[in-house]
Amino acid sequence: MKIFFRALMLRSIALMLVLGLGSTHVRADEGMWLPIQLSKIESRMKEAGFSLSAADLYQINQAAVKDAIVRLGGGFCTAEIVSDQGLVLTNHHCAYDLIQNHSTVEKDYLTNGFWAMNRAQELPNPGLTASTLVRMEDVTNRMNDSLRNVPEAQRGAVIAKVSKIIADEASAEKKGYQGDVRPIFYGNQFILSVYMVYKDVRLVGAPPSSIGKFGGDTDNWMWPRHTGDFSVLRIYTGPNGESAEYDSLRNIPLKPNRYLSVCTSGVQNGDYTMVMGYPGTTNRYLSADNLDFNLATVNMMVEDMIGSRMQAYKEDMDKDDKIRIALASTYASGMNTYKYYQGQSLGLRKDGLGDKKRAHENGLRQWISSDPARVALYGQPLETLSGLLNQYRNDYRKMIYFRQALGNQAFVRHFRIMGDLQKALEAKKPDEAKTMAAAKSTRDALKENMTEYFQATEQKAFARMLRVYLDRINAADRPPFLNDLLKKTEGENDKDRSKELAKIIYKESFLTNPELMEAFLSKPSAKKWKKDPGVQLALSINDYTNQVLMPADRKAQAEQAPVRRQLMAANMAYQSQRIFAPDANSTLRLTYGNIKSYVPRDGVDYKWFTTHSGILQKEDPSSEEFIVPNKLKEDLSKGDFVPYGRDGELVTCFISNNDITGGNSGSPVMNARAELVGIAFDGNWESMTGDLMFNDKVQRTISVDIRYVLFVMDRFAGAGHLVREMKLVP
Ligand code: ARG
Repeated sequence: MKIFFRALMLRSIALMLVLGLGSTHVRADEGMWLPIQLSKIESRMKEAGFSLSAADLYQINQAAVKDAIVRLGGGFCTAEIVSDQGLVLTNHHCAYDLIQNHSTVEKDYLTNGFWAMNRAQELPNPGLTASTLVRMEDVTNRMNDSLRNVPEAQRGAVIAKVSKIIADEASAEKKGYQGDVRPIFYGNQFILSVYMVYKDVRLVGAPPSSIGKFGGDTDNWMWPRHTGDFSVLRIYTGPNGESAEYDSLRNIPLKPNRYLSVCTSGVQNGDYTMVMGYPGTTNRYLSADNLDFNLATVNMMVEDMIGSRMQAYKEDMDKDDKIRIALASTYASGMNTYKYYQGQSLGLRKDGLGDKKRAHENGLRQWISSDPARVALYGQPLETLSGLLNQYRNDYRKMIYFRQALGNQAFVRHFRIMGDLQKALEAKKPDEAKTMAAAKSTRDALKENMTEYFQATEQKAFARMLRVYLDRINAADRPPFLNDLLKKTEGENDKDRSKELAKIIYKESFLTNPELMEAFLSKPSAKKWKKDPGVQLALSINDYTNQVLMPADRKAQAEQAPVRRQLMAANMAYQSQRIFAPDANSTLRLTYGNIKSYVPRDGVDYKWFTTHSGILQKEDPSSEEFIVPNKLKEDLSKGDFVPYGRDGELVTCFISNNDITGGNSGSPVMNARAELVGIAFDGNWESMTGDLMFNDKVQRTISVDIRYVLFVMDRFAGAGHLVREMKLVP
């Protein structure tokens, strides 16, 4: 999972007072800027220390830095091209799932690391794509032409249709192209991104988790950090440089338009840094009431539900190596999300975000109401939205708890895979051939699911999550089928009944038991299907989700959408002098800023960098999170770091006030000349509310210093050939 500046504050205070900007917290360093906005903020970047021009970063007629920035998949992470042979760097945690997929108990790359010593050893990753941005375009005018006179109720459908037309046109321009249109500012503007999508991406190297995930969940989301959170990939193309599916014989390494040089002289306090990448989601323009709403719904749910699922997983991972490896990636991302929301909830309760937002909202409200034309244009967006959220609060809570506790259980997922088989079995005139074909495709589809499925573990997780659900959601707010089922389930209390119900489903249903499932698939019968307790429960869960919860949610979202759009439009008109950075939405962004320390709390001053000695200080062989591999310990104790470190000191990680979020993981941190100095991998504990409001005093991007990356590759892993493939500059 998942940051810039300085010039803006210098704007005249008088002007800010006149415009009511005093309370808006526009500060240097905030903003995930679109590449097409860079020319507007170029002077601010230069003031912060940038020494190139905006056109060096983004332009469409010549190679630019943007050509070296890689979107992994749909933007789950970012990566950067660092050689003329398509070599790519990203985070260890971004490749974690790939590493896990290639790992077995015998060849445990998660624990021991993996290094391809030649091209032939690089490992393919079916399904993984790597894309670079060809161009970005504001298509708002074209969209608005199509939206003229369209009633609100049809707006969504028209946007979807026109977005697809625009995207498809771009995709057709060239083989490998993919167009993608997304709204920004709650649908006030629309942006087209055109990507070149590469489909042959191989794993080249990864350090052991004791380096790549050093500090584990304890250190996650925290500074000071000593994690070597990097891994190495390579993009391949067809013989003519075209996008092509994996082919070990035919394909060749990508010849990129542009790759990043690697700076080996490091950074100093105050140095300019910028990050380009694919931040996923921020919600910087939410109203104060909306924050309360989120805290009472999503944040609570994640802590309750994901927390109890992860605890159940961990207990079994600790007991069995096979389970440990199979669930490693799911567990890591679950815990990452869990700790994110935990930190955010803490912050929401004490950072006073609501108060800051309310102060701004008072100004906005007055500004609207002071002019009848504004009232006519925007209405009362804050009040209207709060009203809608209030109406929806309980339904929303019901929905998200239900979907996690019941809808998101393994037996329901398996049920959903069986849709075709269900149809075949329930057909008026059953057709044996069709039924057997559906059984076969069910078997194939399940196979993938089953590699991460452990019956006893899922039973335990279901029992616990169901119990929390019953605790949180009143009987009156639960679907009747569930209350009825619980009445029929033996037990003294909800805890017993949850356990008992989970036991019935996970002992008796073929949805949960691979042997029973195979028996069913080899002789599928409508009678067995109907009688199965898992199928019966999954069916009710599905129906309730599709017929009650989803329609209510769609209706609520549809009511809120125009109000959110108007609120955003009002905010933008209210602060008409401000250049707005759109919320993150997995499109390419740039954030600029500086290397900077911070004060986390009274009496404590955090340095802006860490060194190898911290690794040795944190070492704890009794905790899996703080093991230091022997070889690394030897290398570090020798103190010979030249050319990666000086004077017996090796910098491991550093912080800067860049504005990043999840999806930026793996992004290049570049200096004023756009040379690579580090790889961004995390945010800090004091800024867990940063996705909701940027706080320049404490919000930091945590990056692994590129010199530590090179050191690990070269000295620890013996993969010096990879270092030599890059272009190192002093
Ligand atoms: N918090 C990081 C992010 O969301 C992921 C860190 C992964 N490391 C870990 N120890 N789980 O980008």
